[in-house]
Amino acid sequence: MKIDYTSYKDVKLKGKKVLIRVDINSNIDMEKMEIRDSPRIRALAPALNDYFKKSAVIILAHQSRPGDPDFTDMSLHAKEIEKEIGRPVKFVKDIFGAEAIKAIKELKPGEVLVLDNVRKFEGEMKNYKNFSDAEATELVQKLFPLVDYVIVDAFGAAHRAHASIVGWPKMLAGPITDEELGVLKKIIDVPDRPMAMLIGGAKAIDKFKAMKYNFESDKLDYALCSGLTAVLIFEALGKNMGEPNHKIIAKDLEENHTMIKETYEKFKERIILPVDLVIDDNGNRKIITIDEAEAYNMTTGDIGPQTVKKFIDIIMKCKTIIANGPPGIFEKEVFRESTNEIIDAMAEATKKNHALTVIGGGEMGAAASMAGKADEVSFISTAGGAMLELLSGHELPMIKALREKKF
Ligand code: 3PG
Ligand code: MG
Repeated sequence: MKIDYTSYKDVKLKGKKVLIRVDINSNIDMEKMEIRDSPRIRALAPALNDYFKKSAVIILAHQSRPGDPDFTDMSLHAKEIEKEIGRPVKFVKDIFGAEAIKAIKELKPGEVLVLDNVRKFEGEMKNYKNFSDAEATELVQKLFPLVDYVIVDAFGAAHRAHASIVGWPKMLAGPITDEELGVLKKIIDVPDRPMAMLIGGAKAIDKFKAMKYNFESDKLDYALCSGLTAVLIFEALGKNMGEPNHKIIAKDLEENHTMIKETYEKFKERIILPVDLVIDDNGNRKIITIDEAEAYNMTTGDIGPQTVKKFIDIIMKCKTIIANGPPGIFEKEVFRESTNEIIDAMAEATKKNHALTVIGGGEMGAAASMAGKADEVSFISTAGGAMLELLSGHELPMIKALREKKF
């Protein structure tokens, strides 16, 4: 992968007015109206107190999607940033109207201003194939002339060709993109072998395709499949995993049945599937075999101890381990065990074997934080879907825009 952009480090930012498009989309407790955990805000904070400390910084970002319950304004995020950086952060409930323009014009070096949820602008979320259409939006036309530089650093949303991500006439890459690509580039180009990919959680077909691409480009040695990806494979091979499991993957299975079967046949020596699963037996873990899943007809929310052992044996043999999606529904106590054991094994592989261990996707990163192990793996990415697309060999729209609109 060729990284071809102008970085924020290549220009002088001191005394300048800088707009940064970041991804601080967060998990919000809507009853308490507070941000639950904000790894993306924590990742952003150090640069605000370092590289950007002497600039007038305008932060542009999104929260959730229109119509979703957590589609809020950005005032909570502004407060959270204030806590992280230890100095005042301004917020305007406006994106590019009179109030926002006034606040941007008055902003001085050393000050930070957060604009409102950019997805309130109806032109934001179109999938801009043609970046010049994004450039023509009111958002870009109004904001771009007001600042010296635009830094696009929304790595977690880099797979979205949205106006605020691909529309600026000139763009610089930011610190999070620099850091993430620094780690992920190694995995994409020449990973230390053996390499294992641990695939769990939702988005089964996307994860299956990322696995397929990495096998076909001969970079991957093992795929440790759990969660819905395992259900998808088992059902493609003719097993019935019970209705609660089946219904979630039914559409993807129908559309990709042959491809899944053929891919499995081709790489089956290296695709490790569960041999036991867990169901919730009135709050207790009941271990079942794969063949029993049909009769129990319940959500199989975790992998069983024999599977965990198989996975850990492979993790301890590998030099690169990349996890996307937890092996169990760890939010539920009864299904948490394997996720913690796998995270422990990744931490041990990092320490003992000097393996490069990377966790992507919000949930598994949160699980690592909950287990107090976030600092014991090599890297926790701020991206889930974007990382998956990158690992599937696609050039992300944000990276393409940074390349085409560099200085
Ligand atoms: C995310 O949290 O996955 C990113 O911010 C992208 O959000 P989206 O999936 O709603 O586009
Ligand atoms: Mg998401």
